[in-house]
Amino acid sequence: MKGKVLFLLCFLCISVAMKAADNPVIKISTDNVDLIYKVADNGRLHQSYLGKHLNHASDIAYLPLGTEAYLTNGMEDYFEPAIHILHNDGNPSLLLKYINHTENQVSTGVKETIITLQDDKYPVTVKLHYVAYSKENLIKTFTEISHMEKKPVTLYKYASSMLHFNRSKYILTEFSGDWATEAHMKDVPLEFGKKIVDTKLGSRANMFASPFFQLALDGKACENSGEVIAGTIGWTGNFAFTFEVDNKNELRVISSINPYASEYSLKPNDVFRTPDFYFTYSFNGKGQASRNFHDWARKYQVKDGDKDRMTLLNNWEATYFDFNQEKLVELMDDAVELGVDMFLLDDGWFANKYPRHSDTQGLGDWDVTADKLPKGISYLTETAKNKGIKFGLWIEPEMVNPKSVLYEKHKDWVIHLPNRDEYYFRNQMVLDLSNPKVQDFVFSVVDDLMTQNPDIAFFKWDCNSPITNIYSAYLKEKQSHLYIDYVRGLYNVLERVKAKYPNLPMMLCSGGGGRSDYEALKYFTEFWPSDNTDPIERLFIQWGYSQVFPAKTMCAHVTTWNKNASIKFRTEVAMMCKLGFDIKLDDMNKNEEQYCKDAVKNYNRLKPIILEGDMYRLVSPYGSNHTSTMFVGKDNSKAVVFSFDVHPRYAEKTLPIRLQGLDANKKYRVKEINLMPGANSSLPGNDKLFSGEFLMTVGIPAFTTQQLHSRVIEVVAE
Ligand code: DGJ
Repeated sequence: MKGKVLFLLCFLCISVAMKAADNPVIKISTDNVDLIYKVADNGRLHQSYLGKHLNHASDIAYLPLGTEAYLTNGMEDYFEPAIHILHNDGNPSLLLKYINHTENQVSTGVKETIITLQDDKYPVTVKLHYVAYSKENLIKTFTEISHMEKKPVTLYKYASSMLHFNRSKYILTEFSGDWATEAHMKDVPLEFGKKIVDTKLGSRANMFASPFFQLALDGKACENSGEVIAGTIGWTGNFAFTFEVDNKNELRVISSINPYASEYSLKPNDVFRTPDFYFTYSFNGKGQASRNFHDWARKYQVKDGDKDRMTLLNNWEATYFDFNQEKLVELMDDAVELGVDMFLLDDGWFANKYPRHSDTQGLGDWDVTADKLPKGISYLTETAKNKGIKFGLWIEPEMVNPKSVLYEKHKDWVIHLPNRDEYYFRNQMVLDLSNPKVQDFVFSVVDDLMTQNPDIAFFKWDCNSPITNIYSAYLKEKQSHLYIDYVRGLYNVLERVKAKYPNLPMMLCSGGGGRSDYEALKYFTEFWPSDNTDPIERLFIQWGYSQVFPAKTMCAHVTTWNKNASIKFRTEVAMMCKLGFDIKLDDMNKNEEQYCKDAVKNYNRLKPIILEGDMYRLVSPYGSNHTSTMFVGKDNSKAVVFSFDVHPRYAEKTLPIRLQGLDANKKYRVKEINLMPGANSSLPGNDKLFSGEFLMTVGIPAFTTQQLHSRVIEVVAE
């Protein structure tokens, strides 16, 4: 009898195991990371594992089932769902079951997996997409939602991604700020309940919150240690990251368009495609996570990610609105003198009925101001050409001042509430990009300028206002589509610009860093991280953005902000990104001018290392009186180290900076460069040969106790 029971029990266990073994297991892998989904016996998809790559396939059977992957509304889970649908019969629930999955090798090192889920009672399909980039250890995810019900369904929530973690501790690094204090990093522990990082600003969406985060697991992550996920959403509009720790101390991370005031009515057979969410997983701290993003961005995402970038002289800080043709030509001469590649004309060149002499009027009227620039833009492009530099132009085509011809003619193109007083942000309003006619107009701003002046080599595309007075005359009863359709309209325009002018580089700007996401960077070669060009503040702002964006995409200009810092200090902060100037040569003495010219030459020589190499953040400006960052060329034969003494204390003890990323067995010559004309280096060991091992374990004593002191050190293998 006993034997029979035992046999029956064994049989039962084996058949349950076999049944489970029959259920599909979906493995999404990069070189170092596995994301594993399992299908439960009831057909529902669970996230079974996310972590270090598992080398023994047979172990996968022992992984727990985990939590349901893409949680739906109205079912048995009591926490935040990834998707929330109202069917057209009034049923507010969704139950998704696994249907199938496909795998497709997109290119070498890039594989896409698509998991299809369906409700068994309603004809609703949800496709979860995962594109895995092996070498970069990065996964891109997005979701497609569609249905075949008789009438439209309403989507209240529509996550790009939902990820689950079961660890002892979670520490979130958030990036928040405001105009001139962008991407400030702050660590917050996540405990029971919800933490939401989101934005409701619409167009200048990232003014208070950047669309990226870092999440350290089990404890704090440092630059070179700790398990950390870095994630970002590619959406140039309202986004929301929801971090929810549940009753079992398990964390769910939902990344999405912000559903705030954005319920979406989806017609039968239309596909609601969410934005992409990208994440990387590092087991060696934040530095590796950043380098993963930098490599991936240059190779797969950013416009012209593999191409060079132009140095420039911009006139904004140098003149503001106060310029004329002669002044601009003088500034072009400054650009030539400095040796930069381009002159960039900023705001203030357009409108005639209401000339753009300040930010109070003229926006929307893109005809050149005749009495300010009588010979037009073509004269400027021609002059730049004759001087051997390129010419770039500022535009802000999505916006309008109420004092403009555009507003007088097309008030219905402006986002504004009927029956309410208008209110303005920087004296302006936002055009309604959900309207295809407005999209045509915005495209025509670029197209007309390019047609009339084919020598324009660059645009700085600004966006200074969030969406105020939100209401679209075009969308009528579908007002809750506006935040989403605005961004989609913007992408339509950018797609047309890119298709017609594929070789036109553009800078993304939004009153400083109010727009900074990877979807926009498909169309823009670079972005403006902040109007704050005080070099001390920039050290923090650039440190923040560098967590996900490569130096190549971040514009940094030398200006007159904080003249307590020398021109050398200001320039060296800017040299860690895409270098530009926003200053007149008149603002400098001859010595400083010479220094800048030399710095441009050095920068051009170092570009392959700074813009294409690996970045190592060596000493953080947070909580320190000093900071240092280095870049190493991909073959480890050349590197450049930047060190800054910000506010050292009297007689403070400074420690050597330990370098990273070098070849321990190579010999490197260490040389301080970028000195003021005639100055000698005081760097101990300057011009000496050291092993990579020494430089990485002992380091170089580059820090000093001088206030606002900086160094650039070139490290070259011999
Ligand atoms: C805001 C930008 O961030 C500045 O660089 C400048 O272009 C102004 N707008 C011009 O209005």
